[in-house]
Amino acid sequence: MPTSTEAQASVNETLRSDRKDSNQRQHTQTGTGGRWFSSSFLLNVGKCLILIIIIPPFLNYASLQREGQMLMPKGGQIVDIGLGQGMHLLCKGKGKPVVILDAPTGMSTDVWLHVQDNLATQTQVCTYDRTGLGFSKRLMQNETSASERVWGMSTTGRMVEDLHRLLQAAGIARPFILVGSELGALNSRFYTHIHDLEVSDLVLIDPIPEDLFEEDQWKDYWYGKLLPSLQVKQFSAATGLSRMLIILGAIEPNIQGENLPEEFVQRQKYLLSNPAHQSSAVDEHFFLNESAAQVRDISKFKPLTRRTPVTVITGDSFDQQIPEHLNQMVARLQKKFLEESYPSANHIHIKGTDRQMIYKKPSAISQHLRKLVNQRQGKQ
Ligand SMILES: *[C@@H]1O[C@H](CO)[C@@H](O)[C@H](O)[C@H]1NC(C)=O
Ligand SMILES: *[C@@H]1O[C@H](CO)[C@@H](O)[C@H](O)[C@H]1NC(C)=O
Repeated sequence: MPTSTEAQASVNETLRSDRKDSNQRQHTQTGTGGRWFSSSFLLNVGKCLILIIIIPPFLNYASLQREGQMLMPKGGQIVDIGLGQGMHLLCKGKGKPVVILDAPTGMSTDVWLHVQDNLATQTQVCTYDRTGLGFSKRLMQNETSASERVWGMSTTGRMVEDLHRLLQAAGIARPFILVGSELGALNSRFYTHIHDLEVSDLVLIDPIPEDLFEEDQWKDYWYGKLLPSLQVKQFSAATGLSRMLIILGAIEPNIQGENLPEEFVQRQKYLLSNPAHQSSAVDEHFFLNESAAQVRDISKFKPLTRRTPVTVITGDSFDQQIPEHLNQMVARLQKKFLEESYPSANHIHIKGTDRQMIYKKPSAISQHLRKLVNQRQGKQ
């Protein structure tokens, strides 16, 4: 403890140096004009920058905490699938056979909103969030399951293992109709090839041809253009920038359209500013080549029996977001893949639609799914 005289001395010292300081300042101010002014100006700018850097992420995290509880879809439940892992499952309607919907790459249950509602009047329809997406939590580094060590992170093999555990834990009636789009189609195929007795019908919406990632042009596009743009979105979500841009109306969620409930729009904005969701979306895109390779191997080693009917639904329009020549390549490889892998599939073309048909033309899709459900219900 300093004695009172020591303290007094130190105060005097401080005062003296302050006075000396301000003398010097006056000196500089009269002497060299605006240097002092400009350094204090820079200091203020610096402070502002720090505020701009610190406050948005802080506000973003605070909002995400609140919204994460408020915006979970009505009827959705977090199912404990073992090993402390909780997954978001959203079932609507009653009846059999159950229809399971698996979303495209990096997307949450929201993408199925209309298809699910259309079908739910006829039977039970369930959709879920893959680990890390939507309302299914991302796993910590130390929470890896055995299947992750076998299949690797964010690949079809692991996702199918998760889905299998989820459907078991939730007591979903089998056999069910399994419907998947893009990565969801890879998962559905993998699932059906392994657990063929659980799936009565397999429906592939715009399936990814496995050979796509053998093509250099595609790899250049995927890893050189698409992935970096998703990484920017992830960074922008993590820094709170996305939330600010959404508030300013500068960016909007992907899924748009009429008749979308307000809660749905809010949830899309929540996911756009949620770094966990965005980073899982990046992972799914990054490992898509691994996923495709896994599915190719499994369909060679364990081909589908004739028992499981396959339906393929594709659009006839090209995706505007992808260059023309790549669209042509995807179409060519898709045709070849379907002829080789599922020659007896019932192939349905929906006119005037592209990859986004699930949310742009939901009624066309649910119409075909309804037919399948009807057939199965008739047989029972
Ligand atoms: C993983 O680590 C986190 C914190 O780093 C801890 O809270 C959690 O309990 C750990 N989980 C397991 C399964 O060890
Ligand atoms: C997938 O792409 C990554 C990165 O380009 C590469 O390291 C990996 O070997 C590829 N995997 C397969 C199965 O092609």
